Amino acid sequence: MNDRRIRKAIFPVAGLGTRFLPATKSIPKEIMTLIDRPLIQYAIDEAREAGIEEFIFVTSRGKSALEDYFDESPALAAELDRKNKTELAKVLESTNMDSGAIAYIRQTRPMGLGHAVWCARRLIGDEAFAVILPDDVIAGQTSCLKQMIDAYQQVGGNIVAAMEVPKNKTSDYGILGATDTSQRIVPVNAMVEKPSPEMAPSNLAVIGRYILSPDVLSALDGAGLGVGGEVQLTDAIAKQISADGVYGYRFEGQRFDCGSKAGYLQATVAFGLAREDLRDELMAYLYDLVPSQVLAS
Ligand code: UTP
Repeated sequence: MNDRRIRKAIFPVAGLGTRFLPATKSIPKEIMTLIDRPLIQYAIDEAREAGIEEFIFVTSRGKSALEDYFDESPALAAELDRKNKTELAKVLESTNMDSGAIAYIRQTRPMGLGHAVWCARRLIGDEAFAVILPDDVIAGQTSCLKQMIDAYQQVGGNIVAAMEVPKNKTSDYGILGATDTSQRIVPVNAMVEKPSPEMAPSNLAVIGRYILSPDVLSALDGAGLGVGGEVQLTDAIAKQISADGVYGYRFEGQRFDCGSKAGYLQATVAFGLAREDLRDELMAYLYDLVPSQVLAS
């Protein structure tokens, strides 16, 4: 097997999603919809386009709606068929997953992203793998993960998706240090989790796509708590800088932070405007609404 093939992806979905309370009291954040598809479907589609074959979900209490979502629904399919709703039947079919392609593993306590990834260690074994955070939705011509896998085939090591953020936002992200941040593939010499603007080594931030060597899982073994009292994935990846190397990958595409309310609303508008069946109506609405809001402010 080509040792730079990436077959497995971890989807950490065990977080509490507190920024979307009270909705997330009973709905997993990843099941919330952008137009008519849940966030998790965008992540799955991205992974499939990148050639991922095994999908590993790290879940927790209250996420059963997410597990059910991937079950086939023969009764619904038959009903759509009976009513000649062929287009809808195709949409439904596109959400089907091969039997055995999905695995669920439990994170028994929300101890942070690093801990969630570590929970999947036995299912990953000794091969490089991808991590996708479904609340980062990335729109673009080519799936972000596919772009990263192409880069990984060139340089190996560990790759994190990276984008520039305003200097005053560095404390919301893991930030990369590098001598030259202008290239598409940026060799990294430091990683700092949520630094203040004064302490940030650059404004190049890590967002929710990673290709990691299994050594990161070893580094997470017995890892202590980092910033925010959580086991930080950033800290374990940073340990690889002096080993296999870490690269930031400045992906092509637009990222929406659907873990935040403002980002989620922006994504809804952008994805709505990109849809032929919704565009005209939405555009007309915005055309009327926005100037009146601007005048009123
Ligand atoms: P977030 O930092 O967005 O946390 O996690 P959250 O719990 O989902 O949301 P808020 O901040 O309370 O609103 C980033 C990703 O890491 C996963 C989350 O499910 C999300 O995909 N995560 C986080 C876990 O799987 N386990 C954890 O312990 C923490």
